[in-house]
Amino acid sequence: MSRGGTPNQTAYGVRNDVPANLRSLLSLADFELAARKILPRPLFGYIAGAAEDGSSHAANRAAFERLKFHPRVLVDVSRRSQAVTIFGKTYASPFGIAPIGISAISAYRGDVVLAMAAKEENIPAIMSGSSLIPMETVRSAAPDTWFQAYLPGDTARIDALIDRVKIAGFSTLVLTVDIPVWANRENNVRTGFSLPLRPSLRLAIDGISRPKWLAGTFLRTLMNHGMPHFENSFATRGAPMLSATAIRDTTGRDHLSWVDIERIRRRWSGNLVIKGILHVDDAKRATSIGADGIIVSNHGGRQLDGAVEPLSVLPQISEAIGHKIVVMMDSGIRRGGDVLKALALGAHFVFVGRPFMYAAAVGGAPGVRHAISLLRDEVDRDMAMLGTSSVAQLRGTVIGSRAGGE
Ligand code: FNR
Repeated sequence: MSRGGTPNQTAYGVRNDVPANLRSLLSLADFELAARKILPRPLFGYIAGAAEDGSSHAANRAAFERLKFHPRVLVDVSRRSQAVTIFGKTYASPFGIAPIGISAISAYRGDVVLAMAAKEENIPAIMSGSSLIPMETVRSAAPDTWFQAYLPGDTARIDALIDRVKIAGFSTLVLTVDIPVWANRENNVRTGFSLPLRPSLRLAIDGISRPKWLAGTFLRTLMNHGMPHFENSFATRGAPMLSATAIRDTTGRDHLSWVDIERIRRRWSGNLVIKGILHVDDAKRATSIGADGIIVSNHGGRQLDGAVEPLSVLPQISEAIGHKIVVMMDSGIRRGGDVLKALALGAHFVFVGRPFMYAAAVGGAPGVRHAISLLRDEVDRDMAMLGTSSVAQLRGTVIGSRAGGE
């Protein structure tokens, strides 16, 4: 859906349909600065943080910066469109909202806000399984939302969870497979962040120092919905979000293998997406067991520090399986130009994580819609300046060194 030439977009300046409190936010990066002022330190740190030294996190951005566009001029791009069809649905833009855990503690009704904003803007949102609002509530607010699961460690509970997702009516199930064990996120220990959060003087001071979040998100949630619990890790309700004693049931997952995915494939008849693939052989394996799509991802640099950046392995993976299943990617996308670079290297679709969470924290659903529309405008503008009218024409529009020596 092209917005090129819309009367709302001035040559230089702010669109006049943006709520006044969001007008100073001109790029996704601006949302991060604004969220830092609103969220308590441990929560902001949880969202912004990465594993260990943050090398994969930094590499995700560097990979985009290494690539350069090779534009063509004097091409008629007046009828350009960034619409993309995947899994039988046409979305207005080639990007969606990645799953973000515990979003309802960072933004009031976070999962619903993200899903509703995505619905309004006609892009997909993936609801996290590490979430604090029952999946059924989110699905009835925004029926096209995808559901992401972290697999419980035993077959009975995996099956019960899959059956619950099916009964709730989701049509796309995303299995995140890059967490055989918990990552080492030292920043969380340093800021006093844990799951569940442990009440402490320090946490209270952190909360009180962010009155907008305290009143508008935390106390409002307690008043209207009670203490948030992990609602969707299993078929049944899990631990509360804030507790001195509760222990989150996180049964070991390190024994899970492709055999489990094959079994789930037989049980789940909807679209099956495997998230967290970085190796071409794993991409081929996902294809051969009948997955409908994969998300090439290093979890935004939050799992294995030093893991390769998805953008660098995307061309090889896309070449191997891109004609068979839907190849998606995430990690490090912050600009419309980044979206286009990933599509030019073979992704059919991309997802964005942290910035949309910041947008929900800063401005609720209007904030997320504003962030979507900023990114959409960037995609549109860059397509025009590249001389492309559709995402199918993007191949070959970027040049530059990729990791791996090209
Ligand atoms: C995540 N991510 C994530 N992934 C997933 O499959 N399930 C989850 O519950 C979460 N939770 C989560 C929380 C937070 C705070 C962040 C920042 C990320 C990973 C996410 O889906 C995605 O892979 C990355 O965020 C993409 O990288 P960028 O766009 O944040 O750089």
